[in-house]
Amino acid sequence: MNLAIIGTGYVGLTTGTCFAEVGHNVVCVDNNAAKVESLRQGKMPIYEPDLEDLIVSNVSAGRLEFTTDLASAVKKCDIVFIAVPTPPNEDGSVDLSYIEAVSHEIADVLKPEYGYRIVVDKSTVPVSTGSKVSQVIERYAAPGVEVDVVSNPEFLREGSAVGDLMNPDRVVIGADSQRAMDMMKRVYQPFNAPIVEVDLHSAELIKHAANSFLALKISYINAVSAVCEKAGADVELVAKGIGMDKRISRHFLNAGLGYGGSCFPKDVKGFIHISEQLGAPLELLKEVERINAGQMERFLERVREKLWVLRNKKVAVWGLAFKQNTDDVRESVAIKIIKRLCEEGAIVSAYDPKARETAARDLQGYELTYCDDMYECTRDAEVLIVATEWKQFANANLMKVRELMHLPIIFDGRNIIHGENAVHAGFEYHSIGRKSLYPSRD
Ligand SMILES: NC(=O)c1ccc[n+]([C@@H]2O[C@H](COP(=O)([O-])OP(=O)(O)OC[C@H]3O[C@@H](n4cnc5c(N)ncnc54)[C@H](O)[C@@H]3O)[C@@H](O)[C@H]2O)c1
Repeated sequence: MNLAIIGTGYVGLTTGTCFAEVGHNVVCVDNNAAKVESLRQGKMPIYEPDLEDLIVSNVSAGRLEFTTDLASAVKKCDIVFIAVPTPPNEDGSVDLSYIEAVSHEIADVLKPEYGYRIVVDKSTVPVSTGSKVSQVIERYAAPGVEVDVVSNPEFLREGSAVGDLMNPDRVVIGADSQRAMDMMKRVYQPFNAPIVEVDLHSAELIKHAANSFLALKISYINAVSAVCEKAGADVELVAKGIGMDKRISRHFLNAGLGYGGSCFPKDVKGFIHISEQLGAPLELLKEVERINAGQMERFLERVREKLWVLRNKKVAVWGLAFKQNTDDVRESVAIKIIKRLCEEGAIVSAYDPKARETAARDLQGYELTYCDDMYECTRDAEVLIVATEWKQFANANLMKVRELMHLPIIFDGRNIIHGENAVHAGFEYHSIGRKSLYPSRD
């Protein structure tokens, strides 16, 4: 099938590439000309494992192309996916101006002689957005144009997006027309995934409800971690004991610094906002947000307690990305921690295997040292903070780190370092929801 994807970011680029990989002809459109040009030259605008090879092979097979020309893409493609940003507004509502702009642009191009078209919303949007997109198209498209609007929310996770797209748990398709549903099922037929066929509004709601539930699960275990710290229990063991119950599952029960990224914070906010607008406020999710924000504060308070005054203390931070295997720093807790440390006068050095450039943009105006090497980052530091769960931090040579640091203190905000190993290397080891460990004095 001929598919257009409008918006070539983390979602659009990976989705378009995977569609091409299963045999569709895909045109990825973006209004960022520099991004399109770099993709045409084979340069990746983002870091996502396994993506680059797939792009190269599908471009050379002639199934994948990049353009800024939305009009020609819409003209030649049966299905047009919208994958543009839906960032939060100040009041927590979703900024739908990108969706509106693209819907309008698509409408301006459509002509009856092109034949039937489906416009698919892949971006995460509040319930009822699809109806608004339909309205815009009806209002601005030439008379006689035949279009259906479909919701097909995306559930990929950055860092494992290719695997998630090629083997999805399920594909949600929300359509109010059988013709659109049948065509959408043909798009996904090569993936052999279970398809959840629902109406347009239910599909939109599934995405907000799913992300909010995952955020809730994270906040739940983080709230439990605070109780564990007070009670001298171990949150990792508690999570294991809870998670072996199939009704609960172990996924998303990792205590840490809280959720971040471009999705959970804004989707929880967006869901709260739309629920209030509809007169069925999801108060529960406000508590989820409160716990999430509190988790970082509690952690910082423990670091402060240990170092007393942060001013002029040398702090090494491992991790800038909001999670491992990505260069994305949107709403990254690591970045928030660094900002706070800098504001309090600490001398910060930071290392991340992939997110240095994206982080430097976000941290403009903050004075810190970016290191090329995770060990160099710890030289002369009085405390090491682990802020992102990259595997290489879990496997670090702690003896080497101990030799480089000025004081032997680790604060592991992701519970990924083996505490006994840290103590064996001579460290005080502090983590989330577990007793702190200290080296023996003899
Ligand atoms: N990133 C994720 O992990 C993820 C997962 C599931 C769903 N989503 C949702 O998918 C949507 C996109 O997220 P993303 O992370 O890919 O965003 P992104 O910022 O990485 O990419 C969006 C792209 O859209 C382009 N764009 C903006 N306006 C445009 C226009 N008028 N015409 C053409 N291109 C335009 C931008 O230049 C950018 O390249 C959001 O609604 C997000 O909530 C994201």
